[in-house]
Amino acid sequence: MKIDILTIFPEMFEGPFRESMIKRAENKKLVKIKIHDLRVWAEDKHKTVDDKPFGGGPGMVMKVEVIDKALKALKTDKTRVVLLTPQGKTFKQKIAKKLSELKHIILICGHYEGFDERIREHFVDEEISIGDYVLTGGEIPAMVVVDAMVRLIPGVVGKKESLKEESFSQDLLEYPQYTRPADYKGWKVPEVLLSGDHEKIKKWRKEQAEKRTKLKRPDLSKP
Ligand code: ADE
Repeated sequence: MKIDILTIFPEMFEGPFRESMIKRAENKKLVKIKIHDLRVWAEDKHKTVDDKPFGGGPGMVMKVEVIDKALKALKTDKTRVVLLTPQGKTFKQKIAKKLSELKHIILICGHYEGFDERIREHFVDEEISIGDYVLTGGEIPAMVVVDAMVRLIPGVVGKKESLKEESFSQDLLEYPQYTRPADYKGWKVPEVLLSGDHEKIKKWRKEQAEKRTKLKRPDLSKP
Protein backbone atom coordinates (compact mmCIF):
# COMPACT_ATOMS: atom_id res chain seq x y z
CA MET A 1 0.00 0.00 0.00
CA LYS A 2 1.12 3.52 -0.75
CA ILE A 3 -0.04 6.57 1.19
CA ASP A 4 0.70 10.12 0.02
CA ILE A 5 -0.05 12.93 2.43
CA LEU A 6 -0.46 16.51 1.19
CA THR A 7 0.19 19.18 3.83
CA ILE A 8 1.69 22.61 4.40
CA PHE A 9 3.24 21.32 7.67
CA PRO A 10 5.28 18.26 6.65
CA GLU A 11 7.45 18.43 9.79
CA MET A 12 4.43 17.64 11.96
CA PHE A 13 4.56 14.03 10.74
CA GLU A 14 8.22 13.39 11.52
CA GLY A 15 7.88 12.40 15.18
CA PRO A 16 4.75 10.22 15.06
CA PHE A 17 5.75 8.44 11.85
CA ARG A 18 9.36 7.88 12.86
CA GLU A 19 8.34 5.89 15.91
CA SER A 20 6.00 3.01 16.54
CA MET A 21 4.18 0.53 14.44
CA ILE A 22 4.06 2.74 11.36
CA LYS A 23 7.86 2.73 11.06
CA ARG A 24 7.89 -1.02 11.57
CA ALA A 25 5.35 -1.45 8.77
CA GLU A 26 7.49 0.71 6.51
CA ASN A 27 10.63 -1.23 7.38
CA LYS A 28 8.83 -4.47 6.55
CA LYS A 29 7.83 -2.88 3.21
CA LEU A 30 4.14 -3.37 3.96
CA VAL A 31 3.41 0.30 3.43
CA LYS A 32 5.10 3.27 1.84
CA ILE A 33 4.21 6.66 3.29
CA LYS A 34 5.29 9.90 1.66
CA ILE A 35 4.72 13.35 3.09
CA HIS A 36 4.51 16.12 0.48
CA ASP A 37 4.79 19.84 1.11
CA LEU A 38 1.90 21.40 -0.84
CA ARG A 39 3.98 24.53 -1.45
CA VAL A 40 5.96 22.55 -4.03
CA TRP A 41 2.92 22.96 -6.30
CA ALA A 42 2.31 26.65 -5.57
CA GLU A 43 2.55 28.78 -8.67
CA ASP A 44 4.03 32.06 -7.46
CA LYS A 45 7.38 32.90 -5.94
CA HIS A 46 5.84 33.34 -2.47
CA LYS A 47 4.60 29.75 -2.60
CA THR A 48 1.00 30.76 -1.89
CA VAL A 49 -1.41 27.89 -1.33
CA ASP A 50 -4.36 29.90 -0.02
CA ASP A 51 -6.25 33.08 -0.86
CA LYS A 52 -9.07 35.33 0.37
CA PRO A 53 -12.63 34.02 -0.06
CA PHE A 54 -14.75 35.46 -2.87
CA GLY A 55 -17.67 37.34 -1.35
CA GLY A 56 -15.61 38.30 1.69
CA GLY A 57 -15.47 36.84 5.17
CA PRO A 58 -12.75 35.81 7.58
CA GLY A 59 -9.86 33.45 6.97
CA MET A 60 -8.25 32.02 3.90
CA VAL A 61 -9.25 29.30 1.45
CA MET A 62 -7.07 26.52 -0.03
CA LYS A 63 -6.54 27.14 -3.75
CA VAL A 64 -7.88 24.66 -6.29
CA GLU A 65 -4.95 24.82 -8.70
CA VAL A 66 -2.44 23.74 -6.04
CA ILE A 67 -4.43 20.58 -5.35
CA ASP A 68 -4.96 20.01 -9.08
CA LYS A 69 -1.22 20.11 -9.75
CA ALA A 70 -0.39 17.90 -6.76
CA LEU A 71 -2.89 15.26 -7.83
CA LYS A 72 -1.70 15.37 -11.43
CA ALA A 73 1.75 14.46 -10.15
CA LEU A 74 0.66 11.72 -7.74
CA LYS A 75 -2.64 10.20 -8.80
CA THR A 76 -3.11 6.99 -10.78
CA ASP A 77 -6.33 5.23 -11.77
CA LYS A 78 -6.12 3.15 -8.57
CA THR A 79 -5.93 6.10 -6.22
CA ARG A 80 -8.52 7.02 -3.59
CA VAL A 81 -8.41 10.72 -2.70
CA VAL A 82 -9.47 11.49 0.86
CA LEU A 83 -10.04 14.93 2.33
CA LEU A 84 -9.75 15.42 6.09
CA THR A 85 -12.47 17.84 7.19
CA PRO A 86 -14.96 18.21 10.04
CA GLN A 87 -17.65 18.02 7.32
CA GLY A 88 -16.71 14.44 6.42
CA LYS A 89 -18.30 11.21 7.61
CA THR A 90 -17.16 10.18 11.05
CA PHE A 91 -14.15 7.88 11.04
CA LYS A 92 -14.91 4.41 12.38
CA GLN A 93 -13.10 1.07 12.58
CA LYS A 94 -15.07 -0.15 9.56
CA ILE A 95 -13.78 2.75 7.44
CA ALA A 96 -10.22 2.03 8.65
CA LYS A 97 -10.65 -1.60 7.53
CA LYS A 98 -11.93 -0.59 4.09
CA LEU A 99 -9.10 1.89 3.58
CA SER A 100 -6.51 -0.68 4.69
CA GLU A 101 -7.48 -2.83 1.70
CA LEU A 102 -6.68 -0.16 -0.89
CA LYS A 103 -3.53 0.08 -3.02
CA HIS A 104 -3.04 3.84 -3.02
CA ILE A 105 -4.49 6.62 -0.90
CA ILE A 106 -3.88 10.35 -1.04
CA LEU A 107 -4.80 12.24 2.12
CA ILE A 108 -5.29 15.99 1.82
CA CYS A 109 -4.84 18.01 5.01
CA GLY A 110 -6.60 21.36 5.01
CA HIS A 111 -6.18 24.57 6.97
CA TYR A 112 -7.66 28.03 7.12
CA GLU A 113 -11.40 28.48 6.70
CA GLY A 114 -11.56 25.60 4.29
CA PHE A 115 -11.11 24.43 0.73
CA ASP A 116 -12.22 25.94 -2.54
CA GLU A 117 -15.44 23.96 -3.11
CA ARG A 118 -14.20 22.87 -6.55
CA ILE A 119 -11.59 20.70 -4.79
CA ARG A 120 -14.45 18.68 -3.27
CA GLU A 121 -16.44 18.63 -6.48
CA HIS A 122 -13.73 17.53 -8.87
CA PHE A 123 -10.95 15.77 -6.99
CA VAL A 124 -12.15 14.15 -3.79
CA ASP A 125 -13.56 10.61 -3.51
CA GLU A 126 -14.30 10.67 0.21
CA GLU A 127 -14.39 13.18 3.09
CA ILE A 128 -13.48 12.01 6.58
CA SER A 129 -13.86 13.67 9.98
CA ILE A 130 -12.29 12.14 13.09
CA GLY A 131 -15.03 13.52 15.32
CA ASP A 132 -17.41 16.38 15.99
CA TYR A 133 -14.87 19.00 17.00
CA VAL A 134 -12.75 21.43 15.03
CA LEU A 135 -8.97 21.09 15.00
CA THR A 136 -6.53 23.63 13.58
CA GLY A 137 -5.85 21.46 10.56
CA GLY A 138 -6.14 18.05 8.95
CA GLU A 139 -2.67 16.84 9.99
CA ILE A 140 -3.60 15.21 13.30
CA PRO A 141 -6.71 13.63 11.71
CA ALA A 142 -4.48 12.27 8.91
CA MET A 143 -2.16 10.71 11.51
CA VAL A 144 -5.15 9.15 13.27
CA VAL A 145 -6.47 7.69 10.00
CA VAL A 146 -3.04 6.37 8.94
CA ASP A 147 -2.38 4.77 12.34
CA ALA A 148 -5.77 3.03 12.46
CA MET A 149 -5.45 1.87 8.86
CA VAL A 150 -1.82 0.74 8.78
CA ARG A 151 -2.14 -1.54 11.81
CA LEU A 152 -4.88 -3.44 9.92
CA ILE A 153 -2.63 -4.28 6.97
CA PRO A 154 -1.87 -8.01 7.24
CA GLY A 155 1.54 -8.60 8.81
CA VAL A 156 1.82 -5.26 10.60
CA VAL A 157 0.45 -6.41 13.95
CA GLY A 158 2.17 -9.57 15.14
CA LYS A 159 -0.62 -11.97 16.03
CA LYS A 160 -3.79 -12.14 13.95
CA GLU A 161 -5.78 -12.92 17.11
CA SER A 162 -4.99 -9.61 18.72
CA LEU A 163 -6.81 -7.83 15.89
CA LYS A 164 -9.78 -10.18 15.84
CA GLU A 165 -10.64 -9.75 19.49
CA GLU A 166 -9.98 -6.05 19.95
CA SER A 167 -12.53 -3.35 20.61
CA PHE A 168 -14.88 -2.44 17.74
CA SER A 169 -13.79 -5.27 15.45
CA GLN A 170 -17.14 -6.98 16.06
CA ASP A 171 -19.00 -3.92 17.32
CA LEU A 172 -18.02 -4.95 20.82
CA LEU A 173 -15.65 -3.41 23.34
CA GLU A 174 -12.81 -5.60 24.53
CA TYR A 175 -13.25 -7.83 27.60
CA PRO A 176 -11.28 -7.01 30.78
CA GLN A 177 -7.68 -8.20 30.90
CA TYR A 178 -5.44 -9.02 33.88
CA THR A 179 -1.86 -10.05 34.43
CA ARG A 180 0.23 -11.10 37.45
CA PRO A 181 -0.07 -10.87 40.40
CA ALA A 182 -3.35 -12.75 40.80
CA ASP A 183 -3.91 -10.88 44.06
CA TYR A 184 -2.73 -7.31 44.51
CA LYS A 185 -3.60 -5.64 47.81
CA GLY A 186 -6.57 -8.01 48.03
CA TRP A 187 -7.84 -7.01 44.55
CA LYS A 188 -8.32 -10.40 43.00
CA VAL A 189 -8.31 -11.50 39.40
CA PRO A 190 -11.59 -13.27 38.48
CA GLU A 191 -11.32 -16.93 39.43
CA VAL A 192 -12.37 -18.19 35.99
CA LEU A 193 -9.22 -16.78 34.35
CA LEU A 194 -7.03 -18.89 36.63
CA SER A 195 -9.09 -22.05 36.05
CA GLY A 196 -7.33 -23.22 32.89
CA ASP A 197 -10.75 -24.08 31.42
CA HIS A 198 -10.52 -22.47 27.98
CA GLU A 199 -14.17 -22.95 27.06
CA LYS A 200 -15.30 -21.33 30.31
CA ILE A 201 -12.84 -18.47 29.81
CA LYS A 202 -14.07 -17.87 26.28
CA LYS A 203 -17.67 -17.76 27.44
CA TRP A 204 -16.84 -15.41 30.33
CA ARG A 205 -14.97 -13.05 28.03
CA LYS A 206 -17.83 -12.92 25.55
CA GLU A 207 -20.30 -12.14 28.34
CA GLN A 208 -18.04 -9.45 29.76
CA ALA A 209 -17.55 -7.84 26.35
CA GLU A 210 -21.31 -7.74 25.79
CA LYS A 211 -21.99 -6.43 29.27
CA ARG A 212 -19.49 -3.60 29.05
CA THR A 213 -20.55 -2.63 25.55
CA LYS A 214 -24.13 -2.32 26.74
CA LEU A 215 -23.02 -0.27 29.73
CA LYS A 216 -20.39 2.00 28.19
CA ARG A 217 -21.40 2.18 24.54
CA PRO A 218 -25.07 1.23 24.19
CA ASP A 219 -25.03 2.88 20.73
CA LEU A 220 -22.76 0.08 19.44
CA SER A 221 -25.17 -2.75 20.23
CA LYS A 222 -28.05 -1.17 18.31
CA PRO A 223 -28.74 -2.79 14.96
N1 ADE B 1 -9.86 19.35 10.31
C1 ADE B 1 -10.23 20.10 11.36
N2 ADE B 1 -10.96 19.43 12.23
C2 ADE B 1 -11.08 18.16 11.73
C3 ADE B 1 -11.74 16.98 12.17
N3 ADE B 1 -12.43 16.93 13.30
N4 ADE B 1 -11.65 15.87 11.39
C4 ADE B 1 -10.97 15.91 10.23
N5 ADE B 1 -10.34 17.00 9.77
C5 ADE B 1 -10.39 18.12 10.50
